[in-house]
Amino acid sequence: MNDFQLIDRAVQILRAGGLVAFPTETVYGLGADATNSAAVERIFAAKGRPATNPLISHVAGEQVARRYAAAWPDAAGALARAFWPGPLTLVLPRRPGGVVAQATAGLPSVALRSPDHPLAIALLRAFDGAIAAPSANRSTHVSPTTAGHVLDELGGRVDLILDGGPCRVGIESTVLDLTAPQPTILRPGGVTREQIERLIGPVRLFAGSVTPGEAAVSPGQQEVHYAPVTPAFRFEREELDTVEDWLRARPGESVALFHLSDLAITVGRDATFNLVAMPASAEGFAAVLYARLREWDKAGVDVIVVEMPPDEPGWLAVRDRLRRATRGI
Ligand code: TXA
Ligand code: MG
Repeated sequence: MNDFQLIDRAVQILRAGGLVAFPTETVYGLGADATNSAAVERIFAAKGRPATNPLISHVAGEQVARRYAAAWPDAAGALARAFWPGPLTLVLPRRPGGVVAQATAGLPSVALRSPDHPLAIALLRAFDGAIAAPSANRSTHVSPTTAGHVLDELGGRVDLILDGGPCRVGIESTVLDLTAPQPTILRPGGVTREQIERLIGPVRLFAGSVTPGEAAVSPGQQEVHYAPVTPAFRFEREELDTVEDWLRARPGESVALFHLSDLAITVGRDATFNLVAMPASAEGFAAVLYARLREWDKAGVDVIVVEMPPDEPGWLAVRDRLRRATRGI
């Protein structure tokens, strides 16, 4: 089948209440018709996702988005024009009769995003509606950045997977709540706080976290999320000495050590020790992070250890994902 036939098939599946995984510039999404409750419930079942965690509804641009929002403040228009299609999700008041309550976990708000990937855009235009789509992984696990990742994790639970190659951004979109008295970033991502503030003025950064399953002010901000199956730990650059002691205390274990700086690890070891050099830019790091975590998960090492990138604004989203994927040593 060519791309047109595939998109056609995908639209038929969605209209019939089925599930279609599709590429976006951030990560692959697991899509269903956002206005069909039974279809949306299938997403939660396929992912093993708690019903309290709302989904993002994907649309082809601002005009379609406005069909699903009960209000469209100036800030939403300015942001959509600047960053859509792109890795920014806007949380707005939900329009009754639009996206079903299951997709928003019963919240009076709706999360809307216009993704920037040719296949996603073609699919959304052909569907001409809202596609609810969380990342196409089992709940709390690492998000998929290739069609192969989706197949590994959800094959058999999804009717069709559209293969659009590896995702360019590699981590999930920025989620910005425009229903709060002051706009609030609920999840940092590809569009930075600085980029948003340049357009609409000061925004808050949501700092808290909640326990999984709990309905929350900021749902989806669970502590453990995006995690590989292999025990994964993190350390800051300044903790390098501690890391060596920590590794010495785990003799015989195979380790994958993701690093940014030139590490001169001097631990005398008989076990397999894999140094994994990570890209030095935040964009480069984000683009490969989930694929690397999956590779080393598959390789069957005993532990993954990650050197944290610097605590600087440009690295905010990457540090956020690493904190959720790992525990401190
Ligand atoms: O890049 C992305 O955003 C990817 C691709 C597929 O678009 N999607 C994604 O979806 O990461 P998911 O379901 O894994 O994350 C959605 C996030 C969660 O943190 C969720 O709690 C939040 O968006 N969210 C959705 N609706 C919300 C709402 N009404 N209010 C507050 N947060 C909401
Ligand atoms: Mg997710």
